[in-house]
Amino acid sequence: MINIPKGTKDVLPNQSYKWQYIEETAREVARAFNFKEVRTPVFEHTELFQRGVGETTDVVNKEMYTFEDKGGRSITLKPEGTAGVVRLFLENGLASSPLPVKAYYITPAFRYERPQAGRLREFHQFGLEVFGSASPETDAEVILAAFSFLNKLGLKGVKLQLNSIGCPICRNQYNTALKNYFRPHLDEMCPTCRSRFDKNPLRILDCKEEGCKKYTSGAPEILDYLCDDCKNHFEKVKSLLDSAGVEYTVNSRIVRGLDYYTKTVFEFVSTEIGAQGTVCGGGRYDGLIGQLGGNPLPAIGFAAGIERILLLMENTSAGFPEEQKPLIYIAGMDETSRNLAFKTALELRGKGVCAEVDHMGRSVKAQFKYADKISAKFVAVIGENEVKTKTVNLKKMSDGTSKEVKIEDLSKYLLQEEN
Ligand code: HAM
Repeated sequence: MINIPKGTKDVLPNQSYKWQYIEETAREVARAFNFKEVRTPVFEHTELFQRGVGETTDVVNKEMYTFEDKGGRSITLKPEGTAGVVRLFLENGLASSPLPVKAYYITPAFRYERPQAGRLREFHQFGLEVFGSASPETDAEVILAAFSFLNKLGLKGVKLQLNSIGCPICRNQYNTALKNYFRPHLDEMCPTCRSRFDKNPLRILDCKEEGCKKYTSGAPEILDYLCDDCKNHFEKVKSLLDSAGVEYTVNSRIVRGLDYYTKTVFEFVSTEIGAQGTVCGGGRYDGLIGQLGGNPLPAIGFAAGIERILLLMENTSAGFPEEQKPLIYIAGMDETSRNLAFKTALELRGKGVCAEVDHMGRSVKAQFKYADKISAKFVAVIGENEVKTKTVNLKKMSDGTSKEVKIEDLSKYLLQEEN
């Protein structure tokens, strides 16, 4: 027996409807907000993530699935969706199409992390990105799209946490303040924090080491250092969320795990699924397009982790719609009636009816039992008589009532019953 790799999961036949429901809801929300789907390869040149996601992040430093391909190129399985979508945007000249460009994706992503509940090595994201707009309305729209997605799934207990981490101008001053604050404690802090001290001190605030947390809790707050432009931007985002009736908490410790963010950052967090409670995270990244070689353009987006949402839905009362069951099981007896059952099922399927027939050479009694096990809504038995009359006795399994229906009228009758 060969087992599944650590940190990955199968989706079983009796679970896939949950995935489909989450994905369909994502597509519905994306459509309503006028986002178009994009698909990028599962792997990209390693450099894209090094430059895009950032050298001071755990994702790039410790977690990437990187390998050399047979042509000697360094290739990396995407650890997130944004960098690839920015590459797609630039490489295909979308910067010269009418702005903003609004794109969404549902994609697998790969991070070599220590697996635990809600943390996998292969996971899936529903994400969306807006390119070309710097306006706070766009920040609010992106946050509202995430909110709407979670809300549609019935996840009402998920809390929105909001912050602004400023632009390069105010961040510079804040970084200086952070460095002044952390400098005296640096010897007692972890090696990661020490290396972040020079490269990106803001990321020290994201450290999970207990020894570092005791210093980070008293660190200066970015919100006290925002320049007027960033402050006004943040105020406008908040007032738009207020008028949309969306509740949030401003949390100056939300700095996000990736290097590209500027101004607005946000996370939707649940307390119901353990330590990995962030179901969705995102923010503005006005510098990334320029950093990846394009003419600088503002951008913002988010990604939600599908496995975490699934876990949350299973742990709470959010619930899923019922799994699709066969609308009809058509049982046959001898060869002639089985042939008619086979043909009738095929015709019904062509008209959008989920129909099932015997594949195992079972007796009629055993076919009935099986139809019950797979929760078929109706069962029709075709025998000698039915072959002649082209009519079946249609039994409703939920209450045992039955009705004579002409085979040619079956699809109409069943589809009516389904609705
Ligand atoms: P992220 O916060 O790294 O952001 O990931 C987004 C979401 O993916 C997380 O909130 C979480 O639900 C899920 N996730 C991340 N890592 C794992 C894992 N190991 N196992 C299971 N789920 C996980 C980004 O990826 C950014 N690209 C989001 C973004 C889009 N920002 C702007 N645009």
